[in-house]
Order: sequence, then C-alpha cells, then structure tokens
Amino acid sequence: MRKCNSMVFRLTGMVFILLFLTIAVLLFLVNLQMDNHFTHYLQMNMLIGMERMAKGPAEEILMSSVHRSLIWVGLIMMLISVGISYVVVAQITRPLLELTEAVKTIRSGQLGRTVSIDRRDEVGILARTFNDMSIQLKRNDTMRRHLFANIAHELRTPLTIVQGNLEGLVDDVIPADKSIFLSMEDEVLRLNRLVQDLRDLSLAEINELVLHKKESNVNILLQRAVSMLRPLTDEKELMVTVNLDDAIPLLYIDTDRINQVIYNILNNAIRYIDRGRAIYIETQLIRNMSVPSVRILIADTGNGIAPEDMPHIFQYFYRGEKSRSRKSGGSGIGLALARQFVLCHGGSIRAESQMGKGTTFYIILPVNKDTSVS
Ligand SMILES: Nc1ncnc2c1ncn2[C@@H]1O[C@H](COP(=O)(O)OP(=O)(O)OP(=O)(O)O)[C@@H](O)[C@H]1O
Ligand SMILES: [Mg+2]
Repeated sequence: MRKCNSMVFRLTGMVFILLFLTIAVLLFLVNLQMDNHFTHYLQMNMLIGMERMAKGPAEEILMSSVHRSLIWVGLIMMLISVGISYVVVAQITRPLLELTEAVKTIRSGQLGRTVSIDRRDEVGILARTFNDMSIQLKRNDTMRRHLFANIAHELRTPLTIVQGNLEGLVDDVIPADKSIFLSMEDEVLRLNRLVQDLRDLSLAEINELVLHKKESNVNILLQRAVSMLRPLTDEKELMVTVNLDDAIPLLYIDTDRINQVIYNILNNAIRYIDRGRAIYIETQLIRNMSVPSVRILIADTGNGIAPEDMPHIFQYFYRGEKSRSRKSGGSGIGLALARQFVLCHGGSIRAESQMGKGTTFYIILPVNKDTSVS
C-alpha cells in the first residue's frame, strides 16, 4: 500500500487542511477586526482631544506583536491538533492492520486465527465478529473432515465384506451357496441405504429435498409402523402401548419421510432397550402454540442416553457406546435424518432422557392452514 493511500495519512492530512483553513480564516478576520477597531479607537481619542492622532511607532509595535502572537498561537494549535489526530487515527487503523493480517492467515488456509482487540467501538465489534467467524470456519472445517472420514469408514465396511466374499467365490475358497449371496445382498442394500440417506441429508440441509406432500393421518402411520415392527418387539418381549388422539386433523406431509422419522425413532427404542422393557406411543393435538400442532411422543423405559451423549445424538454419525460396541450397530445417522425431515416440514424434534429410566422423543408437526382443526 502506498503511503499516501494510508488512512492515517489521509485522515491526518484532512484534519490538517481543515485546521489550516479554519485558523487562516480566523487570523485574517481577527487581524482585520483588530486593525479596524484599533484605528477607530485612535480616531476617537483624537476627537475627544487627546494628543496622539494616528498610529505612531509604539502602536505599530503593539499591532505587529499582537499579529505575531496570533500567528504563533495558530501554528502551535495546528501542530498540537495534527499530533493528536495522528495518534487518534493511528489507534483506529492499527487494529485494522492486525485484522488484515488475520484475514490473510485465514485466506492461506490456517482457520481459527483470532485477534486480541478489546475495544467497545465499531472496530471492537468488527474484531469480535471476525473472531466468531474464524472459530465457526474452523469448527465447520473440522466437522467436514470428520464427515468425510465417517462416510469413508461407513462405505468401506460393507464394501470390504462384499469384496472378501467375491474374492473367496472367485478363488473357490467359499462355496457358492445361497446364504453367501444373501449376505452380500444385505451389505449392498445397506450401502445403498446409506448412500440414499446421505443424499437426502445433504439435500435437506440446503433446502432442496423435494417433498411429495399429501394429506395424511399420522395415527395411521404410527399404527402401521407398530404392526410392521411387531416381530422385533415380540422377539424382545417389549410391551408396546399406543395412545392416539382421535381429534388430530390430517397433516399435509410427505408420508415416506415422516414414516422414516417414526421408524428411525422406534427402531432406536427397540434396539437400545433391554428385553422385557416397554415402549409408549402417544399423539396429541396442541392448540396453545403459535400454530396448532400435532405432538408425537415416543418413549421407552430403556437405560437412557448418557448426559454427555445427549447434545450430540442428532449429529451425523454420532453413536453412543452401546451402538458402537454392537456388531449390528447403526451408522449414527438415523436421528440426524429424522431431525432434517421434521425441520423440512416446519416442525421440531427433541429428546429427554434419564439414565436408568428411559428416553422420550417429542416430534412436533404444525397443522397446515389447509387441513382443518375441528
Ligand atoms: N431410545 C434410545 N435409547 C438409548 N439410546 C438411544 C436411543 N435413541 C438413540 N440413542 C443413542 O443415540 C445415538 C444416535 O442414534 P441414531 O439413530 O442417530 O444412530 P444409530 O441408531 O446408532 O445408527 P442408525 O440409526 O444410523 O442405524 C445412538 O447410537 C444411541 O447411542
Ligand atoms: Mg438409529
């Protein structure tokens, strides 16, 4: 940057020019007035009969000393003001230079750099906003790296299994019986589901997931899900209680997506609770919200989610200990997907859990204007 373009130079120069003009005009006016008044004073003296008639050498000396004093005062004032304005402007611009250095560091790929500018003015606000942005960029970058690592890991497991089986078949090490093909089909289906889920998640995040909405009854969706999952609940001897509110109106939703939400949460409940426990499902029309809504509650009496896991369960690929240690454990995207689908419908989802007592999920779906509330 050329020196004459610097803000310090320009602002100080501007203050200097303004001061110079102000003081020059002031001096000119003061001098003019002094001359006029002093001459007038002398003429008045002459009129009332005093001896001196006009400016003599003594008056000239007085006048020029007044002029000189004025010029000195003007010059000293100008120097002091220019000095002060230089210090003030430099104080404003120094943090800006520090910020510029930090921005350059971020541009070079070193995310997370912050500046230590502790001020309450506009520059302070800019510095704080910059620090927040920098930390957020670092966080997003870390998340992106983890996401890639997780995707690669999740894709590799089924691929390795299929590849191993295929190699065994080609080398005649594994007999070509139906069970091998069935297990390979399982892995391919799992891969396909994972890729589909990831695609849906990324589309939902950027609001580009196409929803095929139609009027649907969530009570019926829940009843169907319960009977579809009956073999799993029976196998674990789980007691399932369903309490559905008949007053809830039809909802304008994409049934496939909302079904997926219900299945993901019910599947979790079945997967993460011990044999003989209970699952409770309830629907209720909530009228006292800004928009009338339907609340779906899915609770279980399992061991609950650890408090340290709670803030993360809706994150991509987050799995609790129980899920990770199981051979059949999931990928950790079931709840992330559920959350995105509910958000796409203008709703919300949250969980409450108590260790040793169980977990409850609340899904709130707004009742659309077009669907009547009786
Ligand atoms: N009802 C529940 N009881 C206890 N823990 C739960 C429950 N629901 C979810 N969790 C915990 O939250 C984590 C995240 O759940 P999520 O459904 O996203 O992933 P997942 O079940 O591990 O895998 P996926 O659903 O992709 O097959 C689970 O790993 C589990 O630790
Ligand atoms: Mg799950």
